[in-house]
Amino acid sequence: MTILVTGGAGFIGSNFVLDWLAGVDTRDERVVNLDALTYAGNLANLASLAGDSRHVFVKGDIGDRALLDQLLATHRPRAVLHFAAESHVDRSIHGPGEFMRTNVQGTFNLLEAVRAHWMSLPGDERSSFRFHHVSTDEVYGSLAPDAPAFTEAHPYEPNSPYSASKAASDHLVRAWHHTYGLPVTTSNCSNNYGPYHFPEKLIPLMIVNALADKSLPIYGDGMQVRDWLYVSDHCSAIRAVLARGRPGQVYNVGGWNEKPNREIVHTICALLDELRPHTQGTYARLITHVTDRPGHDRRYAIDARKIERELGWRPAETFESGIRKTVRWYLDHADWVANVQSGGYRDWVQQQYGASTA
Ligand code: NAD
Ligand code: TYD
Repeated sequence: MTILVTGGAGFIGSNFVLDWLAGVDTRDERVVNLDALTYAGNLANLASLAGDSRHVFVKGDIGDRALLDQLLATHRPRAVLHFAAESHVDRSIHGPGEFMRTNVQGTFNLLEAVRAHWMSLPGDERSSFRFHHVSTDEVYGSLAPDAPAFTEAHPYEPNSPYSASKAASDHLVRAWHHTYGLPVTTSNCSNNYGPYHFPEKLIPLMIVNALADKSLPIYGDGMQVRDWLYVSDHCSAIRAVLARGRPGQVYNVGGWNEKPNREIVHTICALLDELRPHTQGTYARLITHVTDRPGHDRRYAIDARKIERELGWRPAETFESGIRKTVRWYLDHADWVANVQSGGYRDWVQQQYGASTA
């Protein structure tokens, strides 16, 4: 059997592919990994799979309908897991166009290709087929400090171009189920962190900047709250939804770890002080407060009771265990960081896989 993953060279997608091929229940099932290798896609994340016939990497765009049709017909996946997206809020503020192209138009294109494939399947394969859409809690907008956490029934109130584009994609997925009967599931997850996180997002940026003696820029007052989840817990939640989720359903995924950004940055500094002490004293001396992000959402928090109740999923990591693992991972993978930062990973792709497909 085979699954098709989009965006499997990005942060969460590559963690998912690695977890899938290491999992006791899943490791015999091949992964076809379609990724356009934008700045955020990095085949070095998947270097441990080089030569592994269970992983078929295809460099390509979800906007390419002919490529999608060919991949679906050739590999006949039993499920499609859709991670591919433009994912960074700050980039969406500077240039929203690419977010509309990939997150909205790309998801539409993928849904149409998958619908045609699904309709061509014989009865039993058709009824067990799944399309899983990986989405974000940011579609729900910003919570007041004392408001209850987001449930699956929370109204959509996206505030950034990124979250608006993800909200649009969620609506498309919902409509393709409602209108055409496509067997879809959606997960809306809170902020992830862990290995292979591109150092433009808060946690990896603070770690790599601290190690390079650069300033640690906190937006505004730093009291914005996010609900952090270790990435392998997100992967296990998606596996649970794929295995046991009900078609047409949405599952919110979160770590029950609400923390203000300031606390996150101070925790990272304290861990680095312990694990890689600096001769000039604490890394917290590098913290600076900079101009706030326009339209900055104040608080996200996920109510993850539905996925626990219906699918028996709970996160395995606490924030304390997950952030310690993450800091250690960055300390142990200075080469990965240097490659990502220099753009040298593109040379690695060329060297390892040539121009397009391998
Ligand atoms: P990422 O930016 O690290 O990776 C995205 C991947 O998609 C990259 O490998 C990129 O090359 C690929 N991609 C982009 N455009 C493409 C296109 N047109 N065709 C094919 N591939 C393309 O993102 P991530 O953090 O791993 O997020 C993955 C998914 O999870 C996204 O859908 C995101 O909205 C969602 N999500 C992320 C978080 C988080 O905290 N990072 C939280 C909840 C949900
Ligand atoms: P980020 O990792 O970009 O995720 P998102 O915006 O999707 O939640 O940012 C997490 C939080 O950290 C967010 O409130 C913005 C803040 N932040 C900073 O304070 N400084 C930074 O340099 C970055 C990248 C983010």
